[in-house]
Amino acid sequence: MLLNSKKKINAAGIFSSVHVIESTLRNGVLPDGLSNAATAVVESLKINVISERTYRGRPMVIKRRNPYGAKMADMTNLYFRLAKLPIRYLSDLDEWRRWEVGCFLMLNGDRYRAAAARKNAVRLDKIPGRNLWDHMKQGTLTRHMLQAAGREIHRAHQFWSDKLSGRWSHGDASMPNVIFEEGSGRARLIDFEIRHDESLPVVTRQADDLLVFLLDMVGNISSRHWLPFTTSFLRAYGDADVIAELRKQLVIPSGLALLWWNVRTNFAKSATVARRLTSLRKAIGQLDLYPLASGARRRQKRRPSKTCQTRSAGTPTAKSRTRASREIAKAVPPGMPSRLPMTR
Ligand SMILES: Nc1ncnc2c1ncn2[C@@H]1O[C@H](COP(=O)(O)OP(=O)(O)O)[C@@H](O)[C@H]1O
Ligand SMILES: [Mg+2]
Repeated sequence: MLLNSKKKINAAGIFSSVHVIESTLRNGVLPDGLSNAATAVVESLKINVISERTYRGRPMVIKRRNPYGAKMADMTNLYFRLAKLPIRYLSDLDEWRRWEVGCFLMLNGDRYRAAAARKNAVRLDKIPGRNLWDHMKQGTLTRHMLQAAGREIHRAHQFWSDKLSGRWSHGDASMPNVIFEEGSGRARLIDFEIRHDESLPVVTRQADDLLVFLLDMVGNISSRHWLPFTTSFLRAYGDADVIAELRKQLVIPSGLALLWWNVRTNFAKSATVARRLTSLRKAIGQLDLYPLASGARRRQKRRPSKTCQTRSAGTPTAKSRTRASREIAKAVPPGMPSRLPMTR
């Protein structure tokens, strides 16, 4: 049975429509008809095929690269480079499978299993529940779920990653990639095939994760819910340094990066987006978070359990924990401008 998440954003699909690029660059926002057509194109071209299967009695999700997946990923990466966007699709099959399985086990290995399967696929335990995008589209998204997402992203951000030379970040923390687990009431992260450029400061990468999540909501919830929902999410996330960096990133970019921004906002109208981002920037200023000088707070934080960590290349190891404290010492002091992830 195919999983049926309504949102299937795949940047590679966009490149099959020159009109989309032209129109986006010319107008800053897509006309409605074209936006619908673009969405259809995007939905029809996917890097992966997702299916469900029961394997040795366990419900599993099989994620398989389609035959053109690597080419599409490379094409998208070319655009990311041209637009100076600091993310990359893992186009190499082995590297993708290692990272996807490693991150899944690092974050969800307390209850769920994952493994590489055949030469072009991974097999992941199915997490019971629905992703937050589907909840939002069906009108069942609650503050409780958003708080769970904020807490889980924060927990994930404490892991060390050798590959990223610092604390971990997701790279594609959009709402379809956050599953609200039935029963436990906690959120879990999935889908690890886009990775941040490791040269970025950790705070910039982690703020980008928050941004990507929030941009899914920006055109999809009512004005009445925008601030209560987004601030609940941010409060639960809680790290003042990362949220201060996010505040700087809440600006609509120009040039080539605008195309990806429009994908991220699901082609929401730019006037709505601008208005909502302004209100969120103000609200962040009034959030009662930990003081900005949070180095001490970070040092006191409990490190994630060793049992959640895998030994595969690029994911945290017990040994590398000592490096986490060095990273804390090197953390960008609040107020010092850091490199932005996009040309905003
Ligand atoms: N392990 C899993 N457990 C439950 N649902 C999953 C799992 N993996 C994927 N899904 C569902 O399939 C959708 C697509 O999977 P994802 O890994 O995000 O691939 P894609 O690259 O196509 O976005 C997710 O949004 C989620 O709804
Ligand atoms: Mg996904």
